[in-house]
Amino acid sequence: MTPLDAPRQVLLAGPLHPAQGDALQAQLAGPGDQVLAVDTTDGFDALWRLAAEHLARRERLLVVDLEPTSDGAYLDWLRAELQALAQAAGVEPAAGPRVTLAALGRRGLDARAIRQALDDPGQQVDCLDVKPAASQPDWSLPPPHRRHVFLCTGPRCVRRGALSLWKVLRRRLVEHDLVETPGGILLTRNGCQFPCNRGPLLTVYPDRCWYGVQDPQQVLRVVDEHLLHGRPVAALRLPLPEDET
Ligand code: FES
Repeated sequence: MTPLDAPRQVLLAGPLHPAQGDALQAQLAGPGDQVLAVDTTDGFDALWRLAAEHLARRERLLVVDLEPTSDGAYLDWLRAELQALAQAAGVEPAAGPRVTLAALGRRGLDARAIRQALDDPGQQVDCLDVKPAASQPDWSLPPPHRRHVFLCTGPRCVRRGALSLWKVLRRRLVEHDLVETPGGILLTRNGCQFPCNRGPLLTVYPDRCWYGVQDPQQVLRVVDEHLLHGRPVAALRLPLPEDET
């Protein structure tokens, strides 16, 4: 059985660039917790490997969900994966891994909110008998944002590289702390927006700017010039129907 007074292993799991991960580790480490940031931008293999190692050593494990687009379905999937690792390691159900319940990644990496979630068992959920996630206020209200950005992940835009550009886009928004903040961005993937030949399509509302973004540099330009400083990137804009008349 896991000794209750042993340090808890905390894995901060989300698309964190190294400076963000290091800062959070330094802010959240304490005598009761050993904290490690795990960057999931390009996949979850490192998270699963570390979780399996801690579970094999019968250590108390808490995974902090810092995925900016987390929702009930994502949380269920994360818990189910950890449950499978715990079962594979033969961990007693009562000593299994836990996951933070609130969508902390939506809040722009707020160390104080994460600290509260670490200290409050009521903000955590175990990974046993995974059922639909409990409801909580974040899933009932539109998140704060100034602009709504849509990236097309319809079939033709995916063939043109939309999924890798999605990662570039999300990472840059996280770096600028623009994900679902009052002056920031609500980011949504969507189906075909029709000008597929110019895709991948990225649209910004309420500005009504339609962009064709063909490579990471163009995505970064839209973020840095338009979404951060409010200057639309004329060179990448598609003409709208009224421009043609
Ligand atoms: S598939 Fe993206 S615009 Fe058609």
